[in-house]
Amino acid sequence: MSVTLAGCGVVDGIGGSDSKASPTKGDDVKVGLLLPEKENSRYEKFDYPIIKKQVEKLTNGKGEVVYANAEQDAAKQSSQLQRMIDDRVDVLLVDAVDSKAIASGVQSAKDAGIPVIAYDRLAEGPIDAYISFDNELVGEVQGKELVGALGSDSASKKIVMMNGATTDPNAAQFKSGALAELNGKVVIAKTYDTKDWNPVNAKANMEEAIEAVGVGNIAGVYSANDGLAGAVIDALKTAGVSDVPPVTGQDAELDAVQRIVKGDQYMSVYKSYPQEATAAAEMAVAVVQGRSIEFDALTRDKVDSPTNQDIPSQLVPVVALNKSNIEDTVIQDGIYTVKEICAAPYKAACDANGLQ
Ligand code: GAL
Repeated sequence: MSVTLAGCGVVDGIGGSDSKASPTKGDDVKVGLLLPEKENSRYEKFDYPIIKKQVEKLTNGKGEVVYANAEQDAAKQSSQLQRMIDDRVDVLLVDAVDSKAIASGVQSAKDAGIPVIAYDRLAEGPIDAYISFDNELVGEVQGKELVGALGSDSASKKIVMMNGATTDPNAAQFKSGALAELNGKVVIAKTYDTKDWNPVNAKANMEEAIEAVGVGNIAGVYSANDGLAGAVIDALKTAGVSDVPPVTGQDAELDAVQRIVKGDQYMSVYKSYPQEATAAAEMAVAVVQGRSIEFDALTRDKVDSPTNQDIPSQLVPVVALNKSNIEDTVIQDGIYTVKEICAAPYKAACDANGLQ
């Protein structure tokens, strides 16, 4: 193995001269995977199993993934990270609960010679690489769709903005992408950041917005993800709305896809988790095995974090998901079956949409 790799021009320290990547290894790669929460189904349903399967595939079944989920607790994530350093994983994939709070843990990993790849959210500190979606684009897609849904006189219409958690750097990017599309084209009557991305908090904020703006005056809601969208729609219905105004989302959660079919939610953003997770597994194995050419090919983009510049990155594109393209996105990619989406309460709506 080492002969082959040496022939490929193995370099130590992929990702920068200050990197102390572990020495080149064979297939016995141990990947530490830290995910942030369980509220959103993507993490346990797609990210973890796909990364695990890919690592096994790339290492002839000899590699393994050690997995921990922080359940939205930054302190818990820091101790999970420390445990993985103590366990001597070969590389870390870190999806931070709090991108600033994790920075000292990233530094400890680097000091221990363990390369760190930021997964989905841009962790601060000396990371070797970053893999995520184009998060500005997520916000732009959401904003554009909302403006389109409001029609030609959108500029006089009031919307509420329900953003994500301030501890998640993606949330700031979703917001700035959305504002680029919304500013001047709608009236943003109320705007909120949602602590911990928690739908319970979003519901309370939406109730406050309804009280302040008046339920009949809310022409649409920019909601950063599907969890928040569910809470927003709930609050609107509780306030007596039967014909829900356009509400955006993100993540293509199953219940959101069902709300879209039914007409309660206007759109979501489909992010191909298989694409992101597969690339992350490839990057992790490549960095451990010292395959610099493959690693460079996987990280052609460059991003800056508040602490580091020119981080080798891969940004995966996203698409709007609405009534018209359910089949071409989540069904085609095997995320859900028609049967799952069209469970009993949605059967009639599915029939009406030609989803069978
Ligand atoms: C973001 C992530 C989204 C969603 C959201 C809420 O960082 O990109 O896919 O999971 O957090 O948890």
